[in-house]
Amino acid sequence: MPNTPPTPRRTFAIISHPDAGKTTLTEKLLLYGGAIHLAGSVKARRAARHATSDWMALEQQRGISVTSSVLQFEYLGYQVNLLDTPGHADFSEDTYRTLIAADSAVMLLDNRRGVEARTRQLYEVCKLRRMPIFTFVNKCDRPGGHSLELISNVEADLGIGIYPVTWPIHTSTGFVGVADRRRREVLLFGKGIDHGATLVTTRRIPLADPSLVEIIGEDAATTLRDELDLLDHAGHAWDDEAVLNGTLSPMFFGSALSNFGVEPFLHDFLEFAPGPLPRAAVPHEVLPTDDEFTGFVFKIQANMDPKHRDRIAFLRICSGHFLAGMTVTLARTGKTLRLAQPQQFLARERVEVDEAWPGDVIGIHDRGTLRVSDSLSVRGDVVFTGIPRFAPQYFARVITSDPLRRKHLDTGLRQLAEEGAVQVFYQESIAGPVPIVGAVGMLQFDVLLFRLDNEYGVPCKLEPLPFKLARWVRGDSNLIDALVEGRSRMRLFDAKGSSILLFEDEWALRHSLEKGAGLEFLEVAP
Ligand code: G4P
Repeated sequence: MPNTPPTPRRTFAIISHPDAGKTTLTEKLLLYGGAIHLAGSVKARRAARHATSDWMALEQQRGISVTSSVLQFEYLGYQVNLLDTPGHADFSEDTYRTLIAADSAVMLLDNRRGVEARTRQLYEVCKLRRMPIFTFVNKCDRPGGHSLELISNVEADLGIGIYPVTWPIHTSTGFVGVADRRRREVLLFGKGIDHGATLVTTRRIPLADPSLVEIIGEDAATTLRDELDLLDHAGHAWDDEAVLNGTLSPMFFGSALSNFGVEPFLHDFLEFAPGPLPRAAVPHEVLPTDDEFTGFVFKIQANMDPKHRDRIAFLRICSGHFLAGMTVTLARTGKTLRLAQPQQFLARERVEVDEAWPGDVIGIHDRGTLRVSDSLSVRGDVVFTGIPRFAPQYFARVITSDPLRRKHLDTGLRQLAEEGAVQVFYQESIAGPVPIVGAVGMLQFDVLLFRLDNEYGVPCKLEPLPFKLARWVRGDSNLIDALVEGRSRMRLFDAKGSSILLFEDEWALRHSLEKGAGLEFLEVAP
């Protein structure tokens, strides 16, 4: 059987801070990809989707999208798989894990704000994996800071090089187009009459064309030429390898709202972004061209329907050709399972699929067999080493009002931790270990309480702890204990017995790093 997909794959995720325009850009990518015909409906549908279970009631109460996952469409001969990274109140470990399943990332910046906290956090995960990062500077229809200044701020903040592929053109009437540095062209955007609901018209003029001055005016033309000269002489040179190892980010300018610059971005992004990358695994790295079917679970969507304990496990395919109904082996248990009724996600609709290829993500119905980071393959001998557990940022003590249900609580916490819904640690005390839960987003806690009550019959309360930072620590146990002093630090153990130290603030962390010379501090679980 030939082992090449019919269309090349591009599997990526968008990293951004809330409000930078991720929803708007996603929608415009779908518009350009022909997956929707009129923009302006995704947000409205957010609330109306899947209103069929208690789980969704939680989703609706909070006005968030817990269930969004993968969007697929074809564009310019590519199959585009856009992995949705929950970013608002629903920011959680799933957001990190989704990045692990992607082959590249698009960093979306607001032109006035540059790199913000959430973007920086997500960028760190991409950097850990040396993932290619493409930058889209959004909201250029509004005056922002100077683009050259933005570039130096991003470079200084993230320690990454920036190569502007397009460059914004502002005239007295506002943001009118972008220069395409590679093609030495200017792209002028037509004024839409429907506020970006449909595709924007684009006129292309060679940069050297004398009529440019008449069209955009003497001042804008001079500024543009001066700035492009500066970029050509003082900026980074294009370097394929640096782009692919994530040290040079191609940057694009535009406005997702008015569609300006979206198409040139999508076009070049699809060309430069890598297809499915080799994946770290034992006994050896898995190549997308390998014949054997392999994949790993990066997210589990629980309780789509609580009556059936129905869950969807999202599987990233890493090699081989997937066929619906195929039997695979779960490496963790050595047991086989049949992958029946796999789902894919076209625009916002779910459909059943017959086949899938490396880079694709499929949803598998699961009755509690699969866990986050499980490896599946035909022979069962491949184990992906890719999904780390990241240090949580919120911590709380779990308190149940019914001590007789402590066993149920422990079972619930163990299962929910295995599923990846929350991280569970234990604090040693005279009365026995006290469970402490950790999360990277507050929603994880709401979901935890909801599920402990609904699925395990253990109503609980959480008592928030004042810690914001954590590091797993390896080394002499007495030395670790010596770091725990006063109220600004706490030592816990995870399910594997590894020590983790919690810190109230940066100062407490820094102090421990200095004092704990000889110990190893890790941001991801050992
Ligand atoms: P998010 O998913 O990253 O949180 O951002 P979202 O797309 O929801 O956009 C956040 C706000 O920024 C929205 O305005 C949106 O219209 C606006 N926005 C997105 N792209 C652009 C752009 O290119 N230019 C400008 N000027 N604004 C943009 P809002 O007022 O909060 O919501 P809405 O009433 O417009 O829906």
